[in-house]
Amino acid sequence: MDAKARIIELRQIIEEANVRYHTMDNPMMTDYEYDKLMKELIELEKAYPMYDDPNSPSKKVGGEILQQFEKHQHTVPMMSLSNVFSIDEMNGFYEKMIKENSNLSFVTELKIDGLAVSLIYKEGKLIKAATRGNGLVGEDITQNVKTIKDIPHQLKKPIDIEVRGEIYMSHQAFKKANEERLKENQELFKNPRNAAAGTIRQLDSKVVAKRGLSMFVYTIVKGINFVKTQFEALNFLKELGLPVNPYYRHVKDFNGLKEAVLYYDELRKTLHYDTDGAVIKVNEFDQYEKIGYTAKSPKFQIAYKFEAEKEESKILDITFQVGRTGVITPVAELEPVLISGSLVSRATLHNEDYIKNKDIRIGDYVWVHKAGEIIPEVIEVNLQKRNNQEPFKMIEHCPVCQSRLERKEDEADYYCMNPDCSGKNVFKLVHFASRVAMDIDTLGEKVVELLHEQTFLQQISDIYKLKDHYDSLIELDGFGKKSVDKLLEAIENSKKQPLDRLLFGLGIKHVGAKVSKILVNHFPSMDALMHASYEDLINIPDIGPEIANSVVQYFKDESNIKLINELKLLGLNMNFEKIQVKEHPFNGKGFVLTGTLQNFKRDEAKKLIESLGGNVLSSVSAKTDILLAGEDAGSKLKKATELGIRIMSEDEFMELINE
Ligand code: IVH
Repeated sequence: MDAKARIIELRQIIEEANVRYHTMDNPMMTDYEYDKLMKELIELEKAYPMYDDPNSPSKKVGGEILQQFEKHQHTVPMMSLSNVFSIDEMNGFYEKMIKENSNLSFVTELKIDGLAVSLIYKEGKLIKAATRGNGLVGEDITQNVKTIKDIPHQLKKPIDIEVRGEIYMSHQAFKKANEERLKENQELFKNPRNAAAGTIRQLDSKVVAKRGLSMFVYTIVKGINFVKTQFEALNFLKELGLPVNPYYRHVKDFNGLKEAVLYYDELRKTLHYDTDGAVIKVNEFDQYEKIGYTAKSPKFQIAYKFEAEKEESKILDITFQVGRTGVITPVAELEPVLISGSLVSRATLHNEDYIKNKDIRIGDYVWVHKAGEIIPEVIEVNLQKRNNQEPFKMIEHCPVCQSRLERKEDEADYYCMNPDCSGKNVFKLVHFASRVAMDIDTLGEKVVELLHEQTFLQQISDIYKLKDHYDSLIELDGFGKKSVDKLLEAIENSKKQPLDRLLFGLGIKHVGAKVSKILVNHFPSMDALMHASYEDLINIPDIGPEIANSVVQYFKDESNIKLINELKLLGLNMNFEKIQVKEHPFNGKGFVLTGTLQNFKRDEAKKLIESLGGNVLSSVSAKTDILLAGEDAGSKLKKATELGIRIMSEDEFMELINE
């Protein structure tokens, strides 16, 4: 391929990757690969200036602004960093800097793998938080950022300052978020950075509060004259009460740099958050203007990228899993390999695009890592070891029922659309019987598979007809009278389960355990819910268009109606006695706000309270449960005290938001 063609190709790949990364939280390559492609492009453009183009992705910071949030114009652009990939390349940077001024020193920091955010404080008070966006204009995410525990709403000094840093998700929070999503029938986050990015873009700040994001601040944007170096800046940020990553070092020579990055490369394996490199910064601010900037990044700072932590293994086969919703997931069957303490023999390949972009083939040697230390993932092919493997071809038919697969518009996934597909059905049945749904003890995956194979169980209603096959069941291998009795008893008991569990058990797309509870609280019988219109559903707080649509579609399908009628006849409970959804302490509480709040505008606080199930009233009365009292509270405070109403301070309020 000639240089021109390669440049064009690289630009296309990078543009596509930018869109995926910034707007869909769904990357098609690892950061390491992305950085390498970008570097190749920059070098080719340098070597062939005749093909230069101001619109090349190498000239842009990348990222589109989503529509949901207000825009925020950065007073100082948020740039990015150039990368080096080896100690030698780092030496190149060092030499260049020393040439500028032989008295320079450096600061080394960990490069946190999250998303860049700018925080603006006025007189010590947090007034604005914004994402990078396209570098010039970002999104105003103040409301969301205020729910992050690490970030003080009030600095220890009453100064005006803009600071920047990285919002990230710890491994523990990532694991918890994915467990939640699994329960709620939602696609899992691929890694902690996507999870953090997806979370910060949530319009509902309650969700953000729950996910447990964190932040490290690493830079002062401008305006603090007495801070003259990066080392002082980090110390000063700490003094202000901001979270600063503790591993920064002030180093004076190349040996110091080398030692630091080698140390970080070991250290990162022990940390509870992802890092993807080290950042090396000239320490003395008075040198910055002189050293200058490229279109994209300052020349006085550089990222030293770590090689992703990975192990090599061989792909023995690519198999396909059918999920409960019919989604087909390709899985690499691997020669077992030890990664971060556990033996990995299967790794997700996500979808067809992921495999094609990386050109992964059966028989390839590949690098495998654990995303967020948790999910095994194939990240790269070792092409040097490739023989004559056939390129991957996506299957066209369901591996279980053979019906033709469909790929939906705008989705990377293929689906088996056959409602009777037994692959889907086994999962459906297992889900229905699971502890979180109908809780039919002993009807686990193995038993379901066996009964399915023996044709006793094809669809959900068959569970309640098993007793008709009593004589055959006790003859089955591994079954006896005792275990069949136990199973049938558990099945019988499950008929009394509350309606929300039944609803959850049906496996309606987007209707997880929590959504089911909300739905039955508004429509306390199956009949009522079946007849609810899209408008009825969308009017329920917390029910969005996707859920509403999915519920309406489900009840439009005749086979589903048939199933529900059958379950009704079989004696399952179809009504719901209202009980409170697991409560946030604000749920159902009437609030009155008074006085001046330090950390929220009135309407921000109101939105937060409402998102947690409370309501905000304008005046104190017998209906008031809680008076949220800011500074200089007056007559309302007096009245509430007289009425014996609970008075809540802003500090207490902030603690409770995160419960
Ligand atoms: S300094 C000009 N320091 O890495 C940007 N960045 O492209 C100056 N990052 O999105 C950034 N840890 O958000 C700096 N200790 C650190 C960092 C860091 C992570 C991110 C930053 C930016 C990306 C660089």
